[in-house]
Amino acid sequence: MKVSLLFTLFMLAAATLILSCSKTPSGKEVFNSEFCPACHYFRGMGKPEGIDLSRVGERRSPEWIREHIINPKRHDPNIGMPGHAHLSGAEVDALVRMLTSAMPSASERETR
Ligand code: HEC
Repeated sequence: MKVSLLFTLFMLAAATLILSCSKTPSGKEVFNSEFCPACHYFRGMGKPEGIDLSRVGERRSPEWIREHIINPKRHDPNIGMPGHAHLSGAEVDALVRMLTSAMPSASERETR
């Protein structure tokens, strides 16, 4: 009896962990799974010759970037970037957080 209760608690904890992981994807995961690297470069990820997003957060507001990911045609009707309206709010948030995060300092970059 005691063992099965422990087992149930363990399974519940494991399920909670898996669910919370799948609900909060990292920006990196979304960036890679949405093919952003096919056209973009971001701080060591993606195509080196792609459009560089490493410092986009210094020029654009989080709101602008959010809109741009969901529907880039709103900013440029002829843009060669697909919309990403199928992404969940959490997925777009993760991307925006990553894109607007501070650049690693020069000393951190040198050690890589
Ligand atoms: C098929 C190619 C393609 C894909 C895939 C793509 N983009 Fe783009 N993206 C572009 C182009 C083209 C531009 C416009 C660049 C310009 O005008 O300088 C752009 C612009 C942007 C900008 C604005 C850059 C700036 O400096 O103003 C952001 C932010 C951006 N993309 C994010 C993303 C993210 C995040 C993804 C994945 C979810 C993605 N893009 C997928 C082609 C693409």
